[in-house]
Parts: sequence; C-alpha cells; structure tokens
Amino acid sequence: MDSILVTGGGPLKGDIPIAGAKNACLALMPATLLSEEPLTLTNAPRLSDIRTMSVLLQSLGAEVTAMQDGQVLALSGHDLKSHVADYDIVRKMRASILVLGPLLAREGQAVVSLPGGCAIGARPVDLHLKALEAMGAELELRDGYVHASARGGLKGGEVAFPFVSVGATENALMAATLAKGTTVLKNAAREPEIVDLAQCLRRMGAHIEGEGTETITIEGVDRLGGATHRVVPDRIELGTYMLAPAICGGEVECLGGRVDLIGAFCEKLDEAGISIEETERGLKVARKNGRVKSVDVVTAPFPGFPTDLQAQMMALMCTADGVSVLEERIFENRFMHAPELMRMGAQIDVHGGTARVTGVERLKGAPVMATDLRASVSLILAGLSAEGETRVNRVYHLDRGYESVEEKLGAVGARIERVSET
Ligand code: EPZ
Repeated sequence: MDSILVTGGGPLKGDIPIAGAKNACLALMPATLLSEEPLTLTNAPRLSDIRTMSVLLQSLGAEVTAMQDGQVLALSGHDLKSHVADYDIVRKMRASILVLGPLLAREGQAVVSLPGGCAIGARPVDLHLKALEAMGAELELRDGYVHASARGGLKGGEVAFPFVSVGATENALMAATLAKGTTVLKNAAREPEIVDLAQCLRRMGAHIEGEGTETITIEGVDRLGGATHRVVPDRIELGTYMLAPAICGGEVECLGGRVDLIGAFCEKLDEAGISIEETERGLKVARKNGRVKSVDVVTAPFPGFPTDLQAQMMALMCTADGVSVLEERIFENRFMHAPELMRMGAQIDVHGGTARVTGVERLKGAPVMATDLRASVSLILAGLSAEGETRVNRVYHLDRGYESVEEKLGAVGARIERVSET
C-alpha cells in the first residue's frame, strides 16, 4: 500500500493549479442519465472517485470516455440498459446515490443500493427519498436497496428540506427537470456545486431559477438535450493549498482560485494574519511575518465555513499563537484527524462536536494514518512544517479527492514523496 512521506521545512514558493471540483463533477456526471444526447464535461479532475462514478454509469449502460488525460469526459445516456445501481459499486462511494433522481426521472424506475454509514458519520439518505416522494415516487426499501418507481412519470411538487443537504438538493434538482409541472425546493443547498449543476442542466434545456439561493424553482420539460460544460474549480482543493504557505510560510499562487467560492474561509485566514491577494491568475497567499493567530471556526452550509476544510484548518491551528475552538456542525464524527495530529505533538481536546486546540511552537513528525480524505490531507499539511519526517498511511483516501498532491506541493518546494510498498 502506498504512503506519503513528508519532511518538514519551508518556506514554499510558486504556483499550484487548482483542478475542477470533485464534488461538482460527481453530481454533473449522473446528469447524463437525464438525456439521450451527449454531455461533455471539461476541466474534470483526475481522481479515483470520478473513475468510480464512470464505472457506475457504465454499469447502467451510459457511455463514459475519458479524453485529454482524463480532463475531458464525454458522456452519453443514449442507450441505458439497466436501472440497478449495485451494492458493490455504491459501497465504494456514497455519491453513487446521485444516480437515483435522474434514473427515476428518465426511466420511471430505479433500484439503488443504500450507501450505508461512513467514517465521518451515519450519513442517511432520508432527505433524498422524501424529496422524490414529494414528486410522486413510490419507494420501498428491500434487501439493502431502495426500489423506486414513478409510473406515468414524476410530478412537480414542493420539497421543504428540514435542514440543508447538498446531495438531496442535487438529486431533487435533477429529478425535477423532467417532472411534469413545477417543483419548488425550499431550504435548498446553496453550494457552488449546486450552482454549477443548475447551470449545466440549463445548458441541457432545463428550466431552473434561483440556484445559489434558498429556493430553487424548476419547471419540468419533456426532454433534455446535450451540452458542453466546464466544471467549476474545486474550492476545497483551493482552500487546502492556500493553507500550505499559511502553515509553513512563503507565497503560493493558487491558479484558478476565486474568493467567491470560499469567502468564509478567506475571512478566517485573514483573521489569522494570512495575506490573500486576488490576481488575474487566481489567489496569491502569503504568510510573511511571525506566528499565525488562533481563530475560532464553526462549520456550516455554504456560504459558511466548509466542513471539508475543518481538518486542514485544524492543522494550521495546531501551531497558531493561542487557543482556537473548532465546532463541527455538519457531521457528527469528523475529528478523526485530532488524535493523529496529537501523535505529532498537537494539543487538542475534543468534546462532542467541539475541538479546542492550543497552539504549540512546532509539531514533530510521526507515522500517522487517516480514515477519510480531508483528514489525510490535513496530516500532510501538518507534516509540511513539522520537525522531521511524517509518514501518512492509507493514502488511497487522498487519491479519491486530490490529484497529484505530491507533484503539486513538490513544485512549490515541499519535501514530499510517495512511497510504494509491496
Ligand atoms: C456533500 O456530501 C459532499 N460530497 C461532502 O464532501 C461534504 O462534506 C458535504 O456535502 C457537506 O458539504 C459530495 O458532494 C459528493 P449533505 P452530502 O447531504 O451531500 C445529513 C468530501 O470530503 N443528511 O449536505 O452527502 C448528513 O448526514 C465530502 O469531499 C441526512 O441526515 O452531504 C450530514 O450530517 C465528504 N439525511 C448533513 O445532512 C440525508 O438524506 C449534510 O450532508 C442527507 C444528509
């Protein structure tokens, strides 16, 4: 199994290109199931999660061809041959549930394995199911699968989400594009990935208004056509790499970065004393003098501070001046990185959904291991400035969401390498 070896040092200098967003692409790809015509996605990230979604779509009869080294995905839902999303694929990736809405809308039936729990929380899909029921779907849970049908097609309806869910909003949004009549999604997620999906669906001929606000209105159409769409930049990859110079000093320009994707995070970096400059090419981030100041963080749905950057922010706070309190409000078990950071000398007290981090002067390298993608990268960030060597094990988590992490960080001067063990 591969591991990543990081030797602490600093300062960093240079450019890091930001890829297309994993979580946008994972919602855009199933949109191909809504149409007989081709969908081309450009600026796709090259990640194992994207390959898993390709395999899932292919198992349903969609064509998926990766071109230009995987940066362009040519998809077609012309000849769907199955409406069953098998457990063996779904269990690898929770985002597989995103085929449910489009399949049901196009085929009138879908059988999708329930994803099950995961390392960061229970993560049920009840909101996805309730939204589809509000559009007239009949659902039955049997043998670990949700069996959904909508004889005569889905019908527009009002869906009021009790709390914000990115995935449930995406599933409902896609399903509603082909439902008869008008669907109103209330308390919808406002994440940039939702806006990106709505823009792509509109290019395919969908009638959608209000994406990026709490209320999205969709007027169903009889059929959708083809489209070419460029995937929005990955705000989480962006935030992660902005933290690299914040943690070990220097100046890094994140190419393609935009403040509007990550406003709440930029405010916190600013409060911590990190300079962020908007340039023509992206965002230039620098830590010039002295220690970073400790800041408090509460995760929240967009436009709040993203849960997907909480672990990485904790890595920065480990060596900040003072005490910082990080509250995780989206997932119930997303502090698995804290005990690993403590193995590197960090001082962290976790109580329920709150972590209190007392900054120390310097972390010390150690062998560490992580249970999810963002936790893994937070350990790499911590290792970048730690004294000595940090070995991050279970690196397959990283490959799900960060393309060429060692090349991107290596190019700005980090001492990082992948070690393969046989
Ligand atoms: C998306 O997950 C992202 N994944 C996650 O990215 C991200 O952490 C999360 O949104 C929050 O921003 C993708 O886009 C593929 P939710 P999603 O539904 O859609 C609860 C990463 O590292 N909930 O917004 O699954 C749920 O348990 C990751 O890239 C229900 O109770 O998240 C959670 O507590 C991991 N019932 C909260 O809502 C439901 O039916 C928000 O989850 C749905 C969700």
